[in-house]
Amino acid sequence: MPLDVFAMERMQSTWENVVERDMSESGIRAVTMRELIDLGLDLDALLDTPLGYSQSNGTLALRERLAALYPGATPDHIEVTNGTSEANYVLALSQLGPGTRFALEVPNYLQLWGVPRGLGAAVDTFHLRPDATGAWRLDEEELERAIVPGTKLVYVTNPNNPTGAVLTAREMERIVARCEAVGAYLIADEVYQGSEINGARTPSFWGMSDRVIVTSGLSKAYGIPGVRIGWIVGPTDVVARCWAHHDYLTIGPSRLSDAVACVAVAPAVRERLYRRTRTILRENLPVFGAWVSGLHGLLEWSPPAATATAFVRCAGPLAGVPSHTIATHLIDALSVLIVPGSHFGLEGYLRIWTGGAPDVLADGLARIARGLDDLARAPRAVAAAGRHDMPSAEFVP
Ligand SMILES: Cc1ncc(COP(=O)(O)O)c(C=O)c1O
Repeated sequence: MPLDVFAMERMQSTWENVVERDMSESGIRAVTMRELIDLGLDLDALLDTPLGYSQSNGTLALRERLAALYPGATPDHIEVTNGTSEANYVLALSQLGPGTRFALEVPNYLQLWGVPRGLGAAVDTFHLRPDATGAWRLDEEELERAIVPGTKLVYVTNPNNPTGAVLTAREMERIVARCEAVGAYLIADEVYQGSEINGARTPSFWGMSDRVIVTSGLSKAYGIPGVRIGWIVGPTDVVARCWAHHDYLTIGPSRLSDAVACVAVAPAVRERLYRRTRTILRENLPVFGAWVSGLHGLLEWSPPAATATAFVRCAGPLAGVPSHTIATHLIDALSVLIVPGSHFGLEGYLRIWTGGAPDVLADGLARIARGLDDLARAPRAVAAAGRHDMPSAEFVP
């Protein structure tokens, strides 16, 4: 399959463990095994677990727990995957091919820009756009134009990466109604559900229509990316086709990871993990807001409803400087990694992690401020000296 470079993941894979300060993450800072043991993970039972293959679509115990989170779902509606990314990948593999159409919300995590294109599908886009208050709202007219008869799959992320916006009930209904009208399946990637900062839990698309498929996982709001557990909740025939693809791809998730996930998704533990996420974000966001104010107009920001990221607009002397130039200067000169807006399909923005420990946040923001200041003083000189060997996004929204 001829794949475009997944610019964001390639930049992260290359730099996140090389730079002195990684501020490119998007999940809450990770939970340790010790914390999970305090939350009920039975270490002794794990020590005695034979490390054989696990049930390849997820153990029945895990699928039962997951099904209980999605009213009306049974274990047959669930496929457990290696991360949300594998969930999205097998859905695209099992549904798309040459001659099919796919519609994507932008800005977004662009996994399902590259994979559908690689599979030969035509990709249409519709946007979230900032309104007068800075809140990101769905362009409903563009939605109607992007989802047309023949569209097979539609992808949205809610809460959204990178903006942290949460769709309104009306916007959700419009998306579902449009999918139903043309017979498309909606993939609602809900991996950031549970990372709401002040508002209520983001409602799931699950149950709004039989055209809805939900993907999610432990990586973001739960704070457990390292076990690589995700899942699909969908109509049983769709899930069965995904399982068949899974057989070829990775067979199934690891037995240890399945055991960790069984604990994490138990209702009481899940609530404690979400509370931990909310507490961290509520402590960090005022620090971030004060930092933006201290930059004297270099960045503009409206706080997200959810997610452990801030999506900031470049302003003043930084307006018009390519976001990729800014990100590469920060790597070169300050050894700090952020994500350029171009990697989400939107130029003129930067995504900065807000989910770290206080010392990490303080050090990361101090480095970024120094780098932005260099650029603001001499943008051309800095850009000319910058690194040009990292993929900038080919994506043109
Ligand atoms: C919307 C979205 N989906 C999926 C993923 C990948 O998640 P996982 O680590 O569960 O594979 C990401 C990672 O940034 C994401 O932002």
